Amino acid sequence: MKKVLVTGSSGLLGGKLVKVLHDEYEVVPTHNTESLFHGSIRMDIVDGDEVSRVIEESSPDIVVHAAAETNVDKCETNKDWAWSVNVLGTKNVAEACVKFGAKLIFISTDYVFDGSKGLYREDDEANPINHYGLTKLKGEELVRGYCQDSTIVRPSVVYGWHTRKLNFATWVIDSLRNRKRIPVAEDHYNSPTLADDLSEIISLMIKRKLCGVYHTAGAERASRYEFALKIAETFGLDRSLISPVRMVDVGAWIALRPRDSSLCVDKIKRIGIGPSDLSAALKRMKEQIGCSTNPSFI
Ligand SMILES: NC(=O)c1ccc[n+]([C@@H]2O[C@H](COP(=O)([O-])OP(=O)(O)OC[C@H]3O[C@@H](n4cnc5c(N)ncnc54)[C@H](OP(=O)(O)O)[C@@H]3O)[C@@H](O)[C@H]2O)c1
Repeated sequence: MKKVLVTGSSGLLGGKLVKVLHDEYEVVPTHNTESLFHGSIRMDIVDGDEVSRVIEESSPDIVVHAAAETNVDKCETNKDWAWSVNVLGTKNVAEACVKFGAKLIFISTDYVFDGSKGLYREDDEANPINHYGLTKLKGEELVRGYCQDSTIVRPSVVYGWHTRKLNFATWVIDSLRNRKRIPVAEDHYNSPTLADDLSEIISLMIKRKLCGVYHTAGAERASRYEFALKIAETFGLDRSLISPVRMVDVGAWIALRPRDSSLCVDKIKRIGIGPSDLSAALKRMKEQIGCSTNPSFI
């Protein structure tokens, strides 16, 4: 049985990956601050010696590198910190993969694009407009430089049930359940990606031994406002609590956001790995309610 090491298993995507890959692989979950899985190994990706030791000792065939500093505003205000996690951390993982012979799958982001065009293809030019996007693009370049047969996947607005922190969808659900009014940008477009779908797509990509860059987002482009309305509709919540605002009026943001970083998923579809549309993905999320381990999100 092949062995897959997952970085960031305490995160939203990493946790789903551990569960999905568990059926077919020997999975080695790793975490930084909190272990969510029995047998998870502490591996701070910033610590090169620790990364090298853990990857040497666990000797994986494949490493799925999902760990990152994902807080876009924190990346903007703590640029050195973001660089150490997303760039140097990725360099440490890539170096260890080369040294110990593991294939690397790097999770990147739609935020490598500037958002001026939308429905980006894999070969469109990247031009990040915030520090988070820049660090992820540098991560991609390092991965390509170090690991010849690597795979780079770019999702967009990853959402789903998670025990540790809110994501866009769980924030909307939580707010509406608590009858809180929420302002949501109507001119900010992405391709919302259900973490469960994404982890299954990555599992299929491993099976098919795919290399190169793939956009692995949800099948539909939507504004955050449209996405929030769809969430309210699916979960039977009060949509009148959602107010459309312009991106420039979202006061809480520190970093710039790409206006339209939606992704074209034709490449992955052409090889028969079809991402779900928004309604199907949200329906799937709703069906999982009984399985959620965090009642505050239900
Ligand atoms: N969320 C999105 O909307 C989105 C969109 C596009 C792409 N992505 C990419 O998808 C991947 C997964 O995102 P996510 O939403 O699942 O992230 P998340 O829930 O924020 O989880 C991030 C994970 O990274 C780990 N991590 C952070 N610093 C670390 C360090 N120094 N050493 C080891 N692990 C560290 C965290 O561990 P601890 O919490 O234990 O520190 C956590 O497990 C990321 O690469 C992200 O860039 C995310």
